[in-house]
Amino acid sequence: MPSLKPPRNCTFTPGDWSILAAYWYPVALSAAVQDKPVAARLLDQELVLYRTSAGVTAAADICVHRGAPLSMGKLKGDRIACAYHGYCYDQAGQCTEIPAHPGGLIPAKLHLQVFQAKELYGLVWVCLADSPAGEVPAFPEVGDAGYQIVHVPPLDWAASAGRQVESFCDVAHFAFVHENTFAVRDPAVPRYEVQATPYGVHADFTSNVGNVTDPDAATQTWRRVYDLHLPFLARLVIDFPGAGQQALLNAASPVSARRTRVFSIVARNFDRDKSVDELIAFQHRIYGEDQAIVERQNPEDLPIDLGEEVHVRADLTSVTYRRQLGALGLGRGFTA
Ligand code: FES
Ligand SMILES: [Fe+2]
Repeated sequence: MPSLKPPRNCTFTPGDWSILAAYWYPVALSAAVQDKPVAARLLDQELVLYRTSAGVTAAADICVHRGAPLSMGKLKGDRIACAYHGYCYDQAGQCTEIPAHPGGLIPAKLHLQVFQAKELYGLVWVCLADSPAGEVPAFPEVGDAGYQIVHVPPLDWAASAGRQVESFCDVAHFAFVHENTFAVRDPAVPRYEVQATPYGVHADFTSNVGNVTDPDAATQTWRRVYDLHLPFLARLVIDFPGAGQQALLNAASPVSARRTRVFSIVARNFDRDKSVDELIAFQHRIYGEDQAIVERQNPEDLPIDLGEEVHVRADLTSVTYRRQLGALGLGRGFTA
């Protein structure tokens, strides 16, 4: 049964962990969970993901017999078999076979701790709590034939999820961090609209921006609409000049308080036949530029107390985000 007990060696405070455990996070690409068990980690909880005819099961990565990681095991038909003594568990985590005692009684306690899991948008999502605080935010471009959908291979950052998401939604760093990829010519940040919403933050930002290789860039206007879903997921829709539109999902999956796996989907309604590999390489390059800074930020945790860092008008999204995280009840730095 799902439990709200923080896992062993938890890097979050128990209070923060309980709040964060109520949300859905991606833990793997669906394509990566196929014919063998996959290990994942979410909020310090070690998970094994395995596919049966019922879909993907997410269980604590520990065999209840002698504690071996089930991710070392293998799929046997519609069940997962432990690598140590071969016990088999079904899609609900129930043990159905003890090879040492064929046909013998199976103790009721031989049941894995199973968490809620679902597949959406080509990702496996897990919620550790019994009652999720909400739904997985919509990303309607996946499944829309008008868009090319690219799953960017996940990236591992040695940074907190809050710092990662905040950097994704920061509009004042382009000219500095991304000067070699898509930098703005002018670092001045025009006024933009930000609202606190029931799900998090909505920001609407229009500026002159352009790829440095594009000679018309200085005269182009791009509109970026950010929807930040608490705690760590952002959706960004960029409207380019003309009818070009690109929607990006940036879901920061908190592996631990200071480790984050970044899942990203890019959907575009132009250049749909262009190379997927090139787009992935470009996204990785941009993320790499952000990662170099964010992994060095101090403190590592996002300060929720607004008095801890200095804010200017250009930081309105981040200020609203921090206020909203605080309203969830998270602690000041929200880690131990
Ligand atoms: S530890 Fe898994 S079957 Fe014994
Ligand atoms: Fe960035």
